Amino acid sequence: MKTSFLRITGQQERDSVIIRAAADVICNGGLVAIPTETVYGLAGSAIIASSAEKIYSAKGRPSDNPLIVHIAFPEDAEKYAYTTPAYYRLAEKFMPGPLTIILPKKDIIPDTVTAGLQSVAIRCPSNPIAHELIRVSGHPIAAPSANRSGIPSPTCAEHVLEDMDGRIDMILDGGKCEIGLESTVIKLVGNDCVILRPGAITAEMLAEVADNVTISPAVIDPALADHINPESPGMKYKHYAPNASVILIDGNMEQFIKYIDDNAKDNFGVIVSDEDAEFFKKGTLLLTGKRGDASEASRRLFSILRYADDLKLEKVYVQLPPKSGPYLAYYNRIIRAAGCRIIHPDTTDSNKE
Ligand code: TXA
Ligand code: MG
Repeated sequence: MKTSFLRITGQQERDSVIIRAAADVICNGGLVAIPTETVYGLAGSAIIASSAEKIYSAKGRPSDNPLIVHIAFPEDAEKYAYTTPAYYRLAEKFMPGPLTIILPKKDIIPDTVTAGLQSVAIRCPSNPIAHELIRVSGHPIAAPSANRSGIPSPTCAEHVLEDMDGRIDMILDGGKCEIGLESTVIKLVGNDCVILRPGAITAEMLAEVADNVTISPAVIDPALADHINPESPGMKYKHYAPNASVILIDGNMEQFIKYIDDNAKDNFGVIVSDEDAEFFKKGTLLLTGKRGDASEASRRLFSILRYADDLKLEKVYVQLPPKSGPYLAYYNRIIRAAGCRIIHPDTTDSNKE
């Protein structure tokens, strides 16, 4: 299959012709990679069962891992799911935006989209290209991240091309994603809200609207994900991992520097803030932006991991981030990228890379 690569330039007429062409692909059961504010998505109609099958096959994704259904307006959720007052309270504050809400599904959504679950994940993206495509096509859009299964999600159209060239009909290039990590996924239990996957909408932000916000234990400790399946099937799979080994160090800056001085050899990278870069004399520095800037570090993380592979680095060292607040999403991705192994430099055993 030939994949067309089309750039959205901001020229209204040209762009609307491109969006129309992409919408035709969706309506005819084809696949288009699209920018969203979080990461690029691999879009197909959520009401054509064969589109979902094509998505699983293009990504190499296990078919028991359900897809998110993207809508143009929050109230469109009515067509596909049973909504609740809590849904609308959250939608009013956070949609369009990087929040996905799991609701009981209606029959119009095929089982292939939800991997047989009776619930459906609903998201209303704020990216104008994603919004327009959904609106113009008139279809709800199933869209997982547009990477090959298991590796870091794409945050620019070039990353999508690396993974999907020849496997899908079209890629819309809308530049770099603003947020860089996938949406926050929540499940509602009455007015209570459980975070299944952390993202840019944090627990603290949700608590301004929802009565009781909890974080699924598998967010912090991915080893638990196997046991709590099927709460969110995606949590149990290998995720976000580059070819390079990601070595996660639980220590302060002094311990991190010493660990690298003592252990790192040859072809390695260090993920570090701009200010801390000067402490590292060896290795390739992979900069996260200003120290303490969780949004910038999140925006850059997946492209840093892909860049490490472009450079053919063997190991990438990174300090364990905080497990809370705006760093929780970054923590959740990096711990999975590291295969859930954490090195504690102050203890001696079970500490091998
Ligand atoms: O930001 C995002 O959410 C991006 C963009 C493209 O919108 N999409 C995305 O999709 O990250 P994906 O498929 O890579 O991740 C969807 C996550 C998976 O962990 C999946 O298991 C979970 O949402 N999920 C989907 N439907 C679910 C359901 N009915 N119940 C529980 N978890 C569900
Ligand atoms: Mg994904």
